[in-house]
Amino acid sequence: MPRYDYHIFICENSRDKADPRGCCADKGSRNIRAVLKQRLKELGCHRRVRANAAGCLDACAHGPSIVIYPQGVWYGGVCEEDVEEIVQRHILRGEIVERLLMPGQEFFTENKEE
Ligand code: FES
Repeated sequence: MPRYDYHIFICENSRDKADPRGCCADKGSRNIRAVLKQRLKELGCHRRVRANAAGCLDACAHGPSIVIYPQGVWYGGVCEEDVEEIVQRHILRGEIVERLLMPGQEFFTENKEE
């Protein structure tokens, strides 16, 4: 039996300001994880849903980057305001938040029944 229903990895990688790749930390990912953890705790699901800080997820251009297992769903361009939708839809209802999917992740919704 899996230890967690969902395991969420949030990139908190930080780079020098001069690095042209940028980084998720400079785009607010640490606050995103803090808000997410707080919300999971408020909803009482923090023991079955884990939100971990991650190093670079190699999707810097699409950051802040988040990946949620077990499905391996990648969300990009996430901001604090998106946390509630991710929690309500993905974590509580098992839905994919289509508008936040990174490029190349469309297969999660392509064969969805109308
Ligand atoms: S710095 Fe976040 S994905 Fe690379």
